Amino acid sequence: TRPLKVALLGCGNVGSEVARIMTTHADDLAARIGAPLELAGVAVRRPSRVREGVDPALITTDATALVKRGDIDVVVEVIGGIEPARTLIATAFEHGASVVSANKALIAQDGPALHAAAGRQGRDLYYEAAVAGAIPLLRPLRESLAGDHVNRVVGIVNGTTNFILDKMDTTGAGYQEALDEATALGYAEADPTADVEGFDAAAKAAILAGIAFHTRVRLDDVYREGMTEVTAADFASAREMACTIKLLAICERAADGGSVTARVHPAMIPRSHPLASVREAYNAVFVESEAAGQLMFYGPGAGGAPTASAVLGDLVAVCRNRLGEATGPGESAYSMLPVSPMGDV
Ligand code: HSE
Repeated sequence: TRPLKVALLGCGNVGSEVARIMTTHADDLAARIGAPLELAGVAVRRPSRVREGVDPALITTDATALVKRGDIDVVVEVIGGIEPARTLIATAFEHGASVVSANKALIAQDGPALHAAAGRQGRDLYYEAAVAGAIPLLRPLRESLAGDHVNRVVGIVNGTTNFILDKMDTTGAGYQEALDEATALGYAEADPTADVEGFDAAAKAAILAGIAFHTRVRLDDVYREGMTEVTAADFASAREMACTIKLLAICERAADGGSVTARVHPAMIPRSHPLASVREAYNAVFVESEAAGQLMFYGPGAGGAPTASAVLGDLVAVCRNRLGEATGPGESAYSMLPVSPMGDV
C-alpha cells in the first residue's frame, strides 16, 4: 500500500510531539491505519530552531507551497490563531487533502464554513485536540451519544485558569501571585489574556455546544466572563460554605428544548461536586443526557504530548476514511502481546 503523506503545519510543543510519535510509533500507526504514514513536510516560522527527531530536510517556511503540492493526503494544522491557519486549511481542501486541526479559535469562529469546504471536496475536518486536549470528548459527543439527547455539558476546559484557581484555593494566594507561579512553571503564556479572560474557554464552549446539541453556536453567542476578579477573599467565603471556585463552561438546552445557551464564568461549586476535585492544569467535562444520565470525562487538557495524542487519534481516523475503511479497527489493529491472567502481582 502506498504511504499516506502528511504535512505538518507548526512544530512547537504539539507539532514536535506529533512528529516524534509518528516516528517512534510508525509501525503501530501503519497497522492501525492499513498503510504507512510519511511525514512529507513540516512548515515552521523559525527554521533555525532545533527540532529533535525532525529531519531538517523536511522543514520549510513556505506553508502555502506545502499544502499546494497536490500529493498531500492529510494536513495537520497546529499553528493556532485565525490567519494564516484559515487560508492554509481552505487551500489544503482545494488541493485534495483532509485536515486535522487543534485550533479552537478558528473552529469556533469558522467551523461551519470549513466543514462546508471539506464537504465540497469530499474530505474530512477533525479537531478533537481543539477542546480539552487529550480527553476524548468531541467524538464521544458526536458519535457515541448520537442516539441520545444531551441536555447539559458543564466543564473545566482551561488548564491554565484551573491551575491558578487551584493554587489560590490550596495556598490562599491572590490572583497575581498564583498567575506568576503559573507563568514560572510554563502553564500560563507570557500574555495570559486568552486564558484568564475566558476567550479560550468560550471558543471551546461554542464548539462543545454546537456538537452536543447538533446546532450552530457562534463565538459571539457565548457569554464570557474571565477569572481575573476572583480574590483570596472570595475563596475564603467559598470555603466557609464548603465550596470552591472554578471557571466553568456551561452549555445547556432550555427546558422546552427550543433554545440552547453557552456561557463561561467563575462559579462557586460544592466541594462534594466531582468538578471540585479537578486539580492543577487538568480538565474535566460533565455531560448529562436523557438516556445515559451523567457522564464525566477527565484528563490532561493541555500540553504537547497529551494534545498530540488527540491529534494522532484524528490522524488515524482521517487516514482510515481516506482508505475507505471507515468501519473501525480491523484485525491488524490488535497487537499480539501475550495476555497474562494475573498481571504483575
Ligand atoms: N491555554 C489552554 C489551556 C491550552 O490552558 O487550557 C489548551 O487549549
